Amino acid sequence: MKKVYLLAVVMTITAILAGCNKGEQQQDGSLKETKDELILEARSNFEPIPLNVKEGYKQLKNNEASDAKYELGKMLYFEPRLSKSQLISCNTCHNLSFGGDDYQKTSIGHGWQAGPRNAPTVLNSVYNTAQFWDGRAGDLKEQAKGPIQAGVEMAATPDYVIEVLKSIPQYGELFKNAFPGDSDPITFDNVASAIEVFEATLLTPNSRFDQFLRGDSNALTDIEKKGLKVFMDQSCTGCHSGINLTSEGYHPFQVTGTKNENLLAGDKGRAGVTLEEATEDEQFAFKAPTLRNIEYTAPYFHSGIVWDLREAVAVMSSAQLGSDLTEEQIDQIVAFLKSTTGEMPKVEYPILPPSTINTPKPDPAVAQAAPVAVEPAAAEQVVTEPAVTEPAATEPAATEPTAAQ
Ligand code: HEC
Ligand code: HEC
Repeated sequence: MKKVYLLAVVMTITAILAGCNKGEQQQDGSLKETKDELILEARSNFEPIPLNVKEGYKQLKNNEASDAKYELGKMLYFEPRLSKSQLISCNTCHNLSFGGDDYQKTSIGHGWQAGPRNAPTVLNSVYNTAQFWDGRAGDLKEQAKGPIQAGVEMAATPDYVIEVLKSIPQYGELFKNAFPGDSDPITFDNVASAIEVFEATLLTPNSRFDQFLRGDSNALTDIEKKGLKVFMDQSCTGCHSGINLTSEGYHPFQVTGTKNENLLAGDKGRAGVTLEEATEDEQFAFKAPTLRNIEYTAPYFHSGIVWDLREAVAVMSSAQLGSDLTEEQIDQIVAFLKSTTGEMPKVEYPILPPSTINTPKPDPAVAQAAPVAVEPAAAEQVVTEPAVTEPAATEPAATEPTAAQ
């Protein structure tokens, strides 16, 4: 009896101590002094993500964050009624349970249409100096207006979004609280501002790689440390460095003359944005993406053609650097990249206010594209029925990447 009691006391004390340690680590995000050469070299290339995710607000320009905006932005992020089918929300393609993207080659949007590009993660995207694979949106606020209107994504219009939101009285209150200075706060611009504030908190701090950067030499295993060293020695850091493991530049695949046309899917990338001013280097060039949490964000590249992270690393080495890594080095880099997985945002699933009689109904065209009455036994066959997947062909113009959003 006594022993059990003693054990319980010891366990409680251990738990309290463990809790304190964790608390200290959470609060103290500073870089500890160290003589570890690998840490010092890594610090000259990378930066850890702040432990407090609200630090993301500091990246916002012309958009003052508040708790009311955050709460509203979170609801709008999960709000399927912003789409014409009322089935698709930001979270459909940027799933916060799953690395902030959709695990599809290219995204599937309105009426099951396949979009032209792979969805990048929203995690840590507030650190991007420009948004999209071709950087055509300057910030998250400008970006958020794209998918709502894109024919292949949510297929709505600003007027539609406002009609939906104004038909739901609770949203009137929520917008008033979030934008107290505005006489008519339900605007498309404010929708985007609120979503941006929420997205700014979607950071993934405290990965083992970040713990290493902060000075904990034991946070990485031997193979991960070797991978980090190869990553820096091979100049992957030329395009993947800084807080988000990206230099933010646009790079064509054929830097070394090795054409990887199979990866480009006929998409002109940055040149599609800069148009007549496009330089030679912008032809088929794409933004170097973040490599944080990369084990979650397959398939890879703007085309989503490569599923295997080993293969993506090998392609990078030959296409961007003109060097072939050994199998061992590839394994080491992959191990290192996996150590960048951080703590996923803890988002309490929002409860959305109910529709009213005035709320527009889901687009009947989308509903009709679905099978009318399917016997449970026949359901599996229906998926392969061409008529169901056909709607993609009915809006061909919308699949043009730059026109899409
Ligand atoms: C149908 C799927 C789909 C939906 C719905 C969708 N997105 Fe996206 N998102 C994409 C794709 C695909 C891209 C890349 C497009 C490109 O680069 O041309 C993208 C790009 C982004 C980016 C840029 C990230 C980067 O690293 O450049 C952000 C941020 C983002 N979306 C946020 C949102 C928000 C916020 C919403 C809701 C308002 C939303 N998305 C709705 C598929 C989707
Ligand atoms: C000259 C710039 C450059 C260098 C050097 C470079 N990369 Fe990249 N990286 C890019 C660009 C640009 C993309 C996106 C390509 C695309 O989709 O069109 C990319 C994409 C990736 C991806 C896929 C990310 C995703 O989410 O789709 C991985 C993994 C990657 N790089 C790893 C590496 C590694 C490892 C090295 C060093 C061996 C390296 N990169 C060197 C520019 C570079």
